[in-house]
Amino acid sequence: MKRFLRALNGEAVWPPPVWLMRQAGRYLPEYRAVRAQVPDFVGLCTSPDKACEVTLQPLRRYNFDAAILFSDILMLPWALGHGLEFKEGEGPVLPKLRDEAGMAALDPSRVSDRVAPIMETVRLIRAGMKKEGFDDTTALIGFAGAPFTVACYMVEGGGSKEFAAIRGMAYSQPALFQRLMDTLTEASVEYLAAQVEAGAEALMLFDSWAGVLSPNLFRQHVIAPAKRITAALKARYPHVPVIGFPRLAGVMVGAYAETGVDGVGIDTGTDLKLAASMLPAHVAVQGNLDPLAVVAGGDALKTETTAVLNAGRGRPFIFNLGHGIVPPTPPENVAALLELVRGA
Ligand code: CP3
Repeated sequence: MKRFLRALNGEAVWPPPVWLMRQAGRYLPEYRAVRAQVPDFVGLCTSPDKACEVTLQPLRRYNFDAAILFSDILMLPWALGHGLEFKEGEGPVLPKLRDEAGMAALDPSRVSDRVAPIMETVRLIRAGMKKEGFDDTTALIGFAGAPFTVACYMVEGGGSKEFAAIRGMAYSQPALFQRLMDTLTEASVEYLAAQVEAGAEALMLFDSWAGVLSPNLFRQHVIAPAKRITAALKARYPHVPVIGFPRLAGVMVGAYAETGVDGVGIDTGTDLKLAASMLPAHVAVQGNLDPLAVVAGGDALKTETTAVLNAGRGRPFIFNLGHGIVPPTPPENVAALLELVRGA
């Protein structure tokens, strides 16, 4: 079994398997070259040849233990019919879903057609991995945003600092909010199942804003949907592991194990060893190097990497960052990081 999948199967693999969130992206000159050929980011995510190419780029440089489909968590709301635009220097901009009319505009029946190019990308990636000799050792991860984080972008209309609109909606319009969460939960199951059918070998749910919720709302809108999604996928694909990433969950990370996921992504600010102690021994932890330590390089990178390695040793563990790699990261620092991890 591939090292990454062994760790998700509950094995303490050493040195640990390693991949990096956002490992394909703007820090790589070869990514920027492909990106320059398409006018907009959605166009890149819906061009199977190009999306496949940028998925494989980081494997060629670093031979990671996992590849992750090149797409975005906002492609699912886009497929449901919600607007999506990526503005230069501003990030994603979406219409603000705040009422019945916004809800009525979502159409789950159109999703499978709209995501067809993404499934073609998944097939091309597996074929490319075979052709280029990665497929015996590297696993392909499919992913979706978790319903709450996707809802954050749909309700806030893009990024946010306070998340006042979505938290307000969860409290003041609970029925409408629950319908939005149910629609996203059901669509996510179908979207992730289609990725497995196309060749994804593991799945990840990105809940980047899970940590803005109160414990009650965290149980309702982070744990419950992740549990439903995981159970539905495991019923169909018992051998496909699921990783959850409830970012900024803090002490709620222990309760998150109720979701039944095989691995939990830990963010940069959380003590990896303490988080691991709150999880069942067979659940893999994934994380949690500070992406800024990779920008810095040198002694800072070494000190921080050693601390993460020591914290993960002796249990199922996948080395990763605590959040996505950032554009100013020098590619040679990623090479230095991999040398440290593989020499552990
Ligand atoms: O390499 C990979 O990890 C695979 C592809 C991937 C992207 N986004 C590509 C991307 C994945 C898994 C994501 C997840 C994602 N997208 C998350 C969850 C993880 C996290 O970072 O918290 C979130 C919240 C998004 C939403 C999103 N997409 C934002 C806020 C932005 C703008 C900010 C930014 O980083 O540019 C994006 C755009 C985006 N998604 C880019 C990439 C490579 C940059 C777009 C470009 O090249 O112009």
